[in-house]
Amino acid sequence: MNDSIKKLGIFTSGGDAPGMNAAIRAVVRSAIFYDREIYGITRGYEGMIEGDFVKLGARSVGNIIQRGGTILKSARSAAFREPEGRKKAFEQIKKNGIDALVAIGGDGTFTGLHKFYEEFGIPSICLPGTIDNDIPGTDYTIGFDTATNTAVEAIDRIRDTALSHNRLFFVEVMGRHSGYIALNAGVAGGAVGIIIPEENTTIEDLFTKLDEGGKTNKKSSLIVVAEGSKIGGAMDLAAKFSERNNYFDIKVTILGHLQRGGAPSYFDRVLASRMGLAAIEGILNGQKDCMVGIRSNQIVFNSFNEIMTGSHPIDQELLRISKIMSI
Ligand code: F6P
Repeated sequence: MNDSIKKLGIFTSGGDAPGMNAAIRAVVRSAIFYDREIYGITRGYEGMIEGDFVKLGARSVGNIIQRGGTILKSARSAAFREPEGRKKAFEQIKKNGIDALVAIGGDGTFTGLHKFYEEFGIPSICLPGTIDNDIPGTDYTIGFDTATNTAVEAIDRIRDTALSHNRLFFVEVMGRHSGYIALNAGVAGGAVGIIIPEENTTIEDLFTKLDEGGKTNKKSSLIVVAEGSKIGGAMDLAAKFSERNNYFDIKVTILGHLQRGGAPSYFDRVLASRMGLAAIEGILNGQKDCMVGIRSNQIVFNSFNEIMTGSHPIDQELLRISKIMSI
């Protein structure tokens, strides 16, 4: 093991995700298990620049495995994108004697950390924490499972009221560039249509599908729309459909940040615990400038370049299933 790493820093960055706290707990306790000191850096890169470091012990991360959000808080830092900001952050890292960094976040977090590694050589490792599941090199990101369960629960509730009033609902779920939540929540929630940025559905395809449902006596319908839809969000699609429909009363629900909060699922807690330990064991064994992932239920380490040049394509078989199930 690398004895020159005595003190580590940990931070969360970008959009929060359920399970980030479980990951913080796992990283902190694993570091302490291996006799290392560990400091929490609050508000991501912003706190790094401002020198917001606090020493963490095993008890500092007690009673957080079940909590949503992140005790370290999070931010999207514009200052860290500038060389000046990164220089200030490095000065704080040196001042506090930090030898290595562990980050939990999405692609923006990795990009920042990679740049920092290239410029200052601080060994660093990332854990994928985002509800979007849009990171290559891992089958699952921390937070995706919980957010999808939250979306499914909301869709079930909407279905009750949709059926009571014979309504058509357009439900918009998060996923800026990604249809993972929409596809999985749509299949699990029995949606008649799923609109995701990865697929070239046209408005006409959608109208045809809804017309077929109308003709075959569907009493209510639910369309799940990913935030990143290329043919418009739930509001736009509802407006377009209401111009030509005469058999459904139309409503829109945008789930938004509801999907980011709440207690993490068992899956996200276990995933975070596995990845947190792997991050510490990895960095102490020489891994750096990389991301922990999980592939076919095995922990893997992906180089930064693999992450940035790779993609995480949507499951085509699930897409096919969604089409057959919604006839
Ligand atoms: O990246 C996670 C995510 O929740 C996206 O799905 C969404 O588009 C974005 O963050 C929202 O970001 P913010 O909370 O900064 O508005």
